[in-house]
Amino acid sequence: LLATLLALPATAALAAPLTLGFSQVGAESEWRTANSASIKAAAKEAGITLKFADAQQKQENQVKALRSYIAQKVDVIAFSPVVESGWDTVLKEAKAAGIPVILTDRAVKVADPTLYVTFIGSDFVEEGRKAGRWLLERAAKTPNAALNIVELQGTVGSAPAIDRKKGFEEVIKTNPKLQIIRSQSGEFTRAKGKEVMESFLKQRDKKIDVLYAHNDDMAIGAIQAIEEAGLKPGVDIVIISIDGVRGAFEAMKAGKLNVTVECNPLLGPQLMQLAKDVVAKKPVEKRITVNEGVYPAEVAAKELPNRKY
Ligand code: AHR
Repeated sequence: LLATLLALPATAALAAPLTLGFSQVGAESEWRTANSASIKAAAKEAGITLKFADAQQKQENQVKALRSYIAQKVDVIAFSPVVESGWDTVLKEAKAAGIPVILTDRAVKVADPTLYVTFIGSDFVEEGRKAGRWLLERAAKTPNAALNIVELQGTVGSAPAIDRKKGFEEVIKTNPKLQIIRSQSGEFTRAKGKEVMESFLKQRDKKIDVLYAHNDDMAIGAIQAIEEAGLKPGVDIVIISIDGVRGAFEAMKAGKLNVTVECNPLLGPQLMQLAKDVVAKKPVEKRITVNEGVYPAEVAAKELPNRKY
């Protein structure tokens, strides 16, 4: 061993594995579980030492995790910010310590964009538009009917909740028959999605025709509420959601969900490459997006075996 080490150039012999501190949003959804698994597996595969912290959907926990990574002098920090705002101070601390920051999955709103190096993740506004376009096409087949929509929003203040609402509204406003009659946060979880849908169903002033859920987990929770109210999900109430997790494909196969817009959580391998590039000071794009599709119920049975999350 000593002979091998002596034969190596000094830098290679001494090079320690790169350390990445990652602060995850939480474990609120099937999507998030797949995202965490992808990051952990990719770090192992890339030989990167990963320090991983679950923030349980609380910004204060993420700030604590980021500060602890700064104190530990990790080589690079990555995080998926639970909400968009309130990051300037801690990101300035990382910059002052000379630790580069990569955003994954969700964006931040900061005054100085040099506080992070790059952002890899989906285009949430476009996902909202795709959901809206699917509904516009469906509405065009029944031109006279007014469609009352209820919306289950994601975590308040989070990029996907803000952007998916924006993109969807931008598209549906072109047809005045499509109206959002109620909109509330279901915090991206099944339990809260069910609870909020129950309360929507109890308000009997207007008939609900469509549910737009900002993620599949809330839609799956809502499906349970709809069934318990004696209605047929996917038939009496058309259901549109986002993510494309296995649970959504199973619900579509059972005829209970009408369409899911894909949001790819398998960002681990790209993130590890970015971490290496950023530490090596190679130039990287400021914004890296992910290609994603739309899957209506008609293709669910065929697609289900191909799903990777
Ligand atoms: O930020 C991505 C979103 O967060 C996913 O759509 C949702 O399921 C998750 O909790």
